[in-house]
Amino acid sequence: MTGRKPAPYLASKLGAAYLGDSLGVLPALLKPHSVDLIMTSPPFGLVRKKDYGNHDADKYVDWFKAFGELFRKLLKPQGSLVIDIGGAWIPGQPTRSLYHYELLIMLCRECGFHLAQDFFWWNPAKLPTPAEWVNIRRIRVKDAINCVWWLSPTPWPKASNRRVLAPYSDAMRGLLKNGYKAKLRPSGHDISDKFSTNNGAAIPPNLIAIPHTESNSYYLRYCKEHGLEPHPARFPAELPEYFIRMLTDPGDLVVDPFGGSCVTGEVSERLERRWICSELVEEYLKGARARFQRRGNTAGIPSKRTEHESFYKAFHPGINWNGTREPKLPADGGRKRNPKAVKPENPATLWTVA
Ligand SMILES: C[S@@+](CC[C@H](N)C(=O)[O-])C[C@H]1O[C@@H](n2cnc3c(N)ncnc32)[C@H](O)[C@@H]1O
Repeated sequence: MTGRKPAPYLASKLGAAYLGDSLGVLPALLKPHSVDLIMTSPPFGLVRKKDYGNHDADKYVDWFKAFGELFRKLLKPQGSLVIDIGGAWIPGQPTRSLYHYELLIMLCRECGFHLAQDFFWWNPAKLPTPAEWVNIRRIRVKDAINCVWWLSPTPWPKASNRRVLAPYSDAMRGLLKNGYKAKLRPSGHDISDKFSTNNGAAIPPNLIAIPHTESNSYYLRYCKEHGLEPHPARFPAELPEYFIRMLTDPGDLVVDPFGGSCVTGEVSERLERRWICSELVEEYLKGARARFQRRGNTAGIPSKRTEHESFYKAFHPGINWNGTREPKLPADGGRKRNPKAVKPENPATLWTVA
């Protein structure tokens, strides 16, 4: 540690948020190998500038390298770095930037991280954009996932999936009730009778479904009452909660170097983990005060979840397939802006199962 310690902008029982560049704030506060989890959502490499400081996708990886090196230094050997990052479209053409994959490769090849697992956060409430490719020319589908890279300095980070078990599906409940005959699957997998042991809950997949629909939370009401702009790129509290539960114990230290409105701090406090956030923009930390003024969840996590609400259905893609009676594909890949060319004569015929 060098120089004077920065003063917290806001503090709670278990943590504090600091106003400033995390490249300066964190090394002044933290000893090497002292952090259990870095849980963060950095500014995405959107090509259109937003008002929270996005960097041009091309320069993104270079910009991130200093953070990658710092994170590697601060993490305990069995700690984890979890990065929630959205993809980006190349401006003016219907193709995607590779920046978030390049970021992942750089972190593994140049900063010494291992990829423990790649997760995908599916936001079923995401609007279809960019409208030009998705709604108008109809040549791309809705982009509704963020990548979540779970990295660690070791191939063996501290973790347990028992902390994030999900309810059994109806099909699995049926199997548990009616029994399952051990057999060899066509794929060659030997499904033993252990498969029918009721463990109380299911091991979740690496697809995390959270609709991003916060609308009347204490945080939003507080921002409105105080004339503050709510942070425009918050993550839903369930996302950091998932990884904080899976990768840390109470009392561990969680850091969010791109703290924004301190969702990570709020969740850590509620789960009895110590925490530190740093954030460049004062307005966001003013709003973050709301999160520590009262106990419990201020971020709008639904408290009563019915069975129905707790599942999001991803339909089997074949449900609407209908033989070969489909409109002809645009031979120019949709380059000409002529949506009529791809409209079926009678759309109703497309939406019935043959
Ligand atoms: C995607 S937002 C994070 C939002 C946060 N997860 C939440 O839910 O409120 C990224 C944040 O990183 C902040 N930021 C960008 N560069 C930073 C830096 N060098 N140090 C600290 N914060 C930074 C931006 O101001 C922005 O608020």
